[in-house]
Amino acid sequence: MLSAQDKLNQRAWSTATAGRDLDYNEVYTDEGERVALELIRQEVRGKPILDLGVGRGRTIPLLQPLTNDYRALDYLPQMVEISRKRHPGVQVELGDARTLIGLPSAHFGLVQFSYNGIDAVRPSERSQVFSAVRRVLAPGGLFLFSTLNLGGPASRQRPWHLALPHTRDPLRFAVRLVRSLAWAPVHVARWFNLKRHTEAGDGYAVAPLSAHHWSLVTHYTTLERQLAELEREGFGRDAVVIENQQGRQLKVGDDTSPVDWFHIIARRADARPPR
Ligand SMILES: C[S@@+](CC[C@H](N)C(=O)[O-])C[C@H]1O[C@@H](n2cnc3c(N)ncnc32)[C@H](O)[C@@H]1O
Repeated sequence: MLSAQDKLNQRAWSTATAGRDLDYNEVYTDEGERVALELIRQEVRGKPILDLGVGRGRTIPLLQPLTNDYRALDYLPQMVEISRKRHPGVQVELGDARTLIGLPSAHFGLVQFSYNGIDAVRPSERSQVFSAVRRVLAPGGLFLFSTLNLGGPASRQRPWHLALPHTRDPLRFAVRLVRSLAWAPVHVARWFNLKRHTEAGDGYAVAPLSAHHWSLVTHYTTLERQLAELEREGFGRDAVVIENQQGRQLKVGDDTSPVDWFHIIARRADARPPR
């Protein structure tokens, strides 16, 4: 059953604004994603690949040419339709990352959940995603996903923190400034409205995200908590972590305060620790 958070986020992703925002990333969302894919490309080439939360199909040209067993899924029918239309012949299905119903066990060499898609899931259901992904991964298979940093700038942002537009063109500057001032009251009202869905605990929070004019509620985590969660869920201790902006590798203890989100490459461990 869909949670109130699911319904809210699905409504946000169905808007024309979100469509434009998602299409803005023509190839990679950021340097970190490019570096992460570069690191795993050789290892996953020729193996079955599953692309979760495929959205409007941005990642299809990045992964589908690597294999002749590529499947994508999304829980929004509209996203499935758009991806199929843009990429005829590619297998794109309706499905939920928390269950992965109908997908074979121990099959995929790579499962991807890009652009912080996993953060749309309620904290109480996040474990279901790791569990389902682990089930469909072949032994030693990789899970590549990104997740928002609790201590980063995206998490500290508020709709009343107005920044001056970055342009030297005076006309553009004026247009952007007027637009940003016009949106400000809407953003603030949305932020207060979304606060009903927030929660916080040790090393994590569920809070509004500025994307799509402050219309999403997402999960944020510390790096330490994310790595511990992976280990608990049956992934190896040796996950590779890459920050989004410059694609630098991070380890526990590094300063993560400038990092909006982490790209994580986690390997399915042989055994799952006892619960
Ligand atoms: C931020 S968009 C990213 C789209 C695309 N992967 C990209 O990188 O451009 C997140 C996508 O994940 C999908 N999504 C979120 N939660 C999901 C779930 N539990 N199961 C399947 N898809 C989900 C949403 O419908 C949305 O299309």
